[in-house]
Amino acid sequence: MRANFKGRDFITLLDYTKEEIETILNVALDLKRKRAIGEPHLLLSGKTLFMIFYNQSLRTRNSFEAGMTQLGGHAHFLDPQKIYSPALEGDERAYSTERVSDVARVLSRMGDGISIRIYGDPVGWIYGKANYLVNNFAHWADIPIINMECDKYHPCQAMADILTVKEKFGGFSGVKFVMSWAYSPSVHKPLSVPQSAIIAATMMGMDVILAHPKGLELDSDVIKASEEYAKKYGGSFSISNDMKEAFEGAHVVYPKSWTSKYNIPPESEKTEMEKTEELFDKNKDWICDEEKMKLAHKDAIYMHCLPCDRGFEVTNKVIDGPQSVVFDEAENRLHVQKAIMALTM
Ligand code: CP
Repeated sequence: MRANFKGRDFITLLDYTKEEIETILNVALDLKRKRAIGEPHLLLSGKTLFMIFYNQSLRTRNSFEAGMTQLGGHAHFLDPQKIYSPALEGDERAYSTERVSDVARVLSRMGDGISIRIYGDPVGWIYGKANYLVNNFAHWADIPIINMECDKYHPCQAMADILTVKEKFGGFSGVKFVMSWAYSPSVHKPLSVPQSAIIAATMMGMDVILAHPKGLELDSDVIKASEEYAKKYGGSFSISNDMKEAFEGAHVVYPKSWTSKYNIPPESEKTEMEKTEELFDKNKDWICDEEKMKLAHKDAIYMHCLPCDRGFEVTNKVIDGPQSVVFDEAENRLHVQKAIMALTM
């Protein structure tokens, strides 16, 4: 395989081949080893990553910032409220926003990469609009665009997820990976994490089960891609509406909440948001507790991208217990993103 990463955007894993994703994982492991033994790896000396966060973050912001420091470069945080907020044509407000095409071209003259987080309120919860904005940046920028989570994909999280599985199980073949919905009192979590997770897991050839109550389906294009990867790479993909059934014999359980794809601004008397709240409230038993963990394989690991809603998505005993790998998973954000930046920038 010809290594061909320089200058490429990292918006979804669907844009990369399986071999390329494996290369990123191998580079991440090499950079992790270098950091562990204190070997300098100043691969991006003098380079700048501009990070635009429309939403809050702990892991993503700090792993990109620390990662850029470790690579010898600089990560520059941009709050859309403190610059002229980058906006799509049609969403502009005089002297308050600036068209994405202009922001992308200005930053391309000054730095070496642009990373963006946007979903939910900044795009009025219109599904796909945040992904469109990230792609619009990519259309206009001359430097790589890295998706730090939009409303469709969270590719850096998925890379950290599969790196964690690789470390824990030594590979992917025969690993039963359960991506499950879990209850949260908030209906404001995007679909990006589960969608990227099932793409990554099927691409790596795992046996993937997606579990959720009826009404919380994921994007049909993502389901189709996952089915195709399962066929192509020797794993499997199925959907269950029963959390307990899905957990049986699982090696990896990844229970987390996501909203309804149809969670859009109110237009009718009973808003879509209210309908989603009702759907959530009917499924409060979708929690990852010790009883459900007993259904999984004895060596099963519990994963979550964090932040999690303790007492709702998961019990303290599970997330703080011996099967939980959530902090390894969080740390791996650092290593995979360093690999992505080093390869594309
Ligand atoms: N998992 C994740 O993306 O965390 P943050 O929202 O803290 O960045």
